[in-house]
Amino acid sequence: ARKIIIDTDPGQDDALAILLALASPELDVIGVTAVAGNVPLALTEKNARKICELADRPEARVYAGAARPLMRKLVTAEHVHGRTGLDGPDLPEPEMPLQPQHAVDFIVETILREEAGSITLCPIGPLTNIALALIHAPEIAPRIREIVLMGGGFFEGGNITPAAEFNIYVDPEAAKVVFSSGIPIVVMPLDVTHRALTKADRIDRFRAMGTKAGDACVALLEFFERFDEEKYGSDGGPLHDPNVIAYLLEPELYSGRYCNVEIETQSELTLGMTVIDWWGVTGRPKNALVMRDVDHDGFFALLAERIGTL
Ligand code: BDR
Ligand code: CA
Repeated sequence: ARKIIIDTDPGQDDALAILLALASPELDVIGVTAVAGNVPLALTEKNARKICELADRPEARVYAGAARPLMRKLVTAEHVHGRTGLDGPDLPEPEMPLQPQHAVDFIVETILREEAGSITLCPIGPLTNIALALIHAPEIAPRIREIVLMGGGFFEGGNITPAAEFNIYVDPEAAKVVFSSGIPIVVMPLDVTHRALTKADRIDRFRAMGTKAGDACVALLEFFERFDEEKYGSDGGPLHDPNVIAYLLEPELYSGRYCNVEIETQSELTLGMTVIDWWGVTGRPKNALVMRDVDHDGFFALLAERIGTL
């Protein structure tokens, strides 16, 4: 199985990404590292453990990482995810332990210990932990197989400012470190995730499972979609983070283009913007495979099929 580390700030959509990964035999989730983002770190690491227990995987290893971005004050998103970050279902307090090691040390040690080219990083929150690992031990960069991340947006615009997507906006300096690392990167931007809408019949599939995980997903998705439905009147809400895991399982669901991506870290107006050279108008080196479209029916079929096995 492909070895992955999920770096996350759960988050209802993070929760579904973790469940999808844990339900998929092709993937070996060797660690879940928490970062401050949607809510502060004390909540994201606890939420990550709640989700592992929901998947009946209390032996999974969850590590706590950075409590704030590299250079800036933490911006959170309780307006989207609720006060706990995981509002919706009534999940019990986790009993599984938090690992004593710091997430950044875990990432560095694991990549140096495991065979070169064997570890894939899946960041679905702000990129602080990944940047810290690269700063702490730059020698890990050539040993990383690939980074598949949720972040950014281009033709679609931003979701926390007109120009910026939340994960990149929260820690733009960290994003800059990651995008200039030379590591192969795959990006799932808002352009993809805004097509993966949680419509009622899709949520019904989780209800029909009649399982603990299925019921929790219904509550997570119904809470999560209400933000977009109330604010924008859309039918369902965009399901962001599970696209990262779905790409690892069925890459043919996605289409995109290999291009240059730079991160804006200076401008007040466009801070955290992903400047994507889709048309190749600069000579800047291509550093990321940026996805633009998803077979959303295929994506939801995969999600329901896998989570249905939990
Ligand atoms: C991203 O921001 C968070 O709120 C979601 O969990 C997702 O990772 C979408 O912009
Ligand atoms: Ca997230």
